Amino acid sequence: MKRIGVLTSGGDAPGMNAAIRAVVRKGIFHNLEVFGIYQGYTGLINGHIEKLELGSVGDIVHRGGTILRSARCPEFKTPEGQQKGVEQLRKHGIDGLVVIGGDGSYRGAKALTELGFPCIGVPGTIDNDIPGTEFTIGFDTALNTVIDAIDKIRDTASSHERTFIIEVMGRDAGDLALWAGLAGGAETIVIPEEPFNMDEIIERLKNGQKRDKKHSIIVVAEGVMSGTEFAKLIQKECDIEVRVSVLGHIQRGGSPTATDRVLASRLGARAVELLIEGKGGRAVGIEKNQLVDYDIIEALGRKHQLDLNMYKLSKELSI
Ligand code: F6P
Repeated sequence: MKRIGVLTSGGDAPGMNAAIRAVVRKGIFHNLEVFGIYQGYTGLINGHIEKLELGSVGDIVHRGGTILRSARCPEFKTPEGQQKGVEQLRKHGIDGLVVIGGDGSYRGAKALTELGFPCIGVPGTIDNDIPGTEFTIGFDTALNTVIDAIDKIRDTASSHERTFIIEVMGRDAGDLALWAGLAGGAETIVIPEEPFNMDEIIERLKNGQKRDKKHSIIVVAEGVMSGTEFAKLIQKECDIEVRVSVLGHIQRGGSPTATDRVLASRLGARAVELLIEGKGGRAVGIEKNQLVDYDIIEALGRKHQLDLNMYKLSKELSI
């Protein structure tokens, strides 16, 4: 292994820059040449590839977004696109690739692995939905962004005695909504992993009103339905004043938390070690604060498990 590449793909996540920095510096520390591939798989297909030096990743550990930029690339889902990608890697003399991203990015890495090119997946997504790791890079920062928003919304909700529905990202996973709802003291959390019962939600709102609680926060994961749709369902059942806040892409931005920076540094560096050890086709993760790695092809067949005990707890705490 003499030359390695690194790319970020799919939805960006705070901490991706810290992961790029770790890949570049760890690679150079081990006398490798490291190449940055810009705009994810799109840049790979188009050969937008440049050598990165120690200084290329200076002053980025604290920045959100990704200096390599990111893209969603439908062409890379085709065998022709994947073949073009492998040709570009070979043309640049790159022997191994680190892919930082979510499940779509992992599918690209899986395809390259199946074509015989050594790839390592590093989980970078605010959704926390990658199997084989308890946490993904960006989740902690996004969680803190959502909590900050909930705290602010709570102020105005209590002043106006309103019920707020806060729509949170996460694609098909409820992690962000569940963690933010629990940390933000939401009365109700609606996630795709568990069916919701509207009668029970209304009952909880009414019980709150009976004990003179005039405002409430309902966190709805986007994977269930939009906040607006959920508001309509509630208003069909009871006559309360409701407002909807869709947090949107602010959840993807901002300076990464210390937790995300450390996680990104550890995972990025481990990915390089695996390539040096000649172990392609793996994904790295964190379990019980220990670094782990596992077969990327097998991992994509598994499903990420949300901690349902936390969901149960959130219900117990919001009686
Ligand atoms: O995967 C990250 C994510 O932010 C999801 O939470 C969300 O569903 C999606 O990406 C939004 O994608 P886009 O930025 O392409 O609209």
